[in-house]
Amino acid sequence: MTFDLARVLEERRGENFQLHMEYMNPQLARVLKTLGFDRFYERGEGAYLYDDRGDRYLDLLSGFGVFALGRSHPVIKKALHDAIDADLPNLVQIDCALLPGVLAEALVNRSHKGIERVFFCNSGAEAIEAAIKFARQSTHRSRILYCDHAYHGLTNGALSLNGGDDFRKGFGPLLPRTDRIPSAISGPSGAHSPGATSPPSWPSRSRAKASISRPRATGRRPRRSAGSRAPSS
Ligand SMILES: Cc1ncc(COP(=O)(O)O)c(C=O)c1O
Repeated sequence: MTFDLARVLEERRGENFQLHMEYMNPQLARVLKTLGFDRFYERGEGAYLYDDRGDRYLDLLSGFGVFALGRSHPVIKKALHDAIDADLPNLVQIDCALLPGVLAEALVNRSHKGIERVFFCNSGAEAIEAAIKFARQSTHRSRILYCDHAYHGLTNGALSLNGGDDFRKGFGPLLPRTDRIPSAISGPSGAHSPGATSPPSWPSRSRAKASISRPRATGRRPRRSAGSRAPSS
């Protein structure tokens, strides 16, 4: 089996909007064209994008923890190359793999008191789905309150807690026993009204990733395995 990525990138250069129009989400492609965002970015480095005309763009989107390290960070690139070259025993279904355990230990050591375990998932919405299940299982309550204007993702459970009507329109019925409250009274007092449960304090993927580079001062003594070193910031 052969696959030549460099050849695909060269041969299909600049076809990105056409392909999305035809095979993916034509509305997104139309909106980006209207906004003047119909570019073909060839490279990303740190906070900058470079298009096929040689123009450089400062990407000001932030907030997602994954952006904290910037695109194409050399340490991340090396780790990815190393992981691929190591021929790791991936996708063994009946196993406890080493590297997720090492990462979970690092995250717990940097988290505040009360966060003892890590559940890895692939997206913010999936983290919310897990949080809904954990909350219902541990409290034995089914009602969930969410804030007006809250955004938690677009999967069915996460959408049920989405406070934006435009996102919800046309996808009902959503999860039962979910009720909207005004943002101003969101927080522990609103979330713990009788009969209600709320997602537990949960390090979202972005917060967890953001905390890798700079451990917070928590006053908690880190638990370290014999072989692990103090984190460098
Ligand atoms: C607070 C919050 N929760 C959940 C999500 C959903 O994340 P994802 O798009 O990875 O599913 C987002 C995405 O913007 C978010 O900002």
